[in-house]
Amino acid sequence: MKAVIPAAGFGTRFLPATKAQPKEMLPVFDKPTIQYVIEEAVSSGIDDILIVTGKNKRSIEDHFDKSFELEHILKTTGKDNPLKQVREITDLAEICYIRQKKQEGLGDAIYCARKHVGDEPFAVMLGDTITKGETPCTKQLIDIYNKYNASSIALEEVPLEKVERYGIIKGNEIEKDVYKIDKLVEKPSINDAPSNLAIMGRYVLTPDIFNKIKETKPGVGGEVQLTDALSKLDVIYGSIFEGKTYDIGNRLDWLKTSIEFALDNDESRDELLNYLKEII
Ligand code: G1P
Repeated sequence: MKAVIPAAGFGTRFLPATKAQPKEMLPVFDKPTIQYVIEEAVSSGIDDILIVTGKNKRSIEDHFDKSFELEHILKTTGKDNPLKQVREITDLAEICYIRQKKQEGLGDAIYCARKHVGDEPFAVMLGDTITKGETPCTKQLIDIYNKYNASSIALEEVPLEKVERYGIIKGNEIEKDVYKIDKLVEKPSINDAPSNLAIMGRYVLTPDIFNKIKETKPGVGGEVQLTDALSKLDVIYGSIFEGKTYDIGNRLDWLKTSIEFALDNDESRDELLNYLKEII
């Protein structure tokens, strides 16, 4: 299966940090955000990845490209561990790039992938969420896709006051934590939200989504919304992700995630704990 990672947005929620660098390259602890997403794809069995980019996104390509000069310096100075890490990044997966020429929304970004994807089901992975689970989130969705033979999206229960940030669904629970969806609403107000089950940024979609996107008019924010196109599919399932999601779409949650990942790391845990105690 192929994966599509949209990465063309301006990153306005992270300005000024994202004025001249892509938000996908902001590090969470010690790695750029997009690397976590690609590692999830790879551990889900995906090795063909299309990143939909835009202006000012060259550093994403550089990050996954081979750097002969850097490798040479690390090798000749005996820095074996960094050398290994740098080489692993390059060998992660086959990554292709396409540019979204006008920023017309998530739906439009996915539409840019239609030729690369062809007539096969494919995964969509958004960079605003990092996931940790015994079974990777996208792999869980691939399993649901294989079981029901229809598009499937990952869900997460969110507090009601946060529904306005997400696509929200309504559906019938057909087995534990799996819903047959009958309604999807992009960024509803608290009063209009049909539930608190949010679309969390991982999808496995059948290729008929491309025709549905084509038929979709701009929605919330004047953008072509993927959620609106998903509403047009005949059948779609949602499955609550079994694991932990880290929403890094805003500054504070991004910072919390970095702290949690640093506390998970043997080398930094004790020193960081002491520092946190000290400043608190
Ligand atoms: C997008 C989707 C939304 C989803 C969210 C998850 O919104 O349109 O349905 O719930 O990602 O992060 P965005 O965060 O790009 O505004």
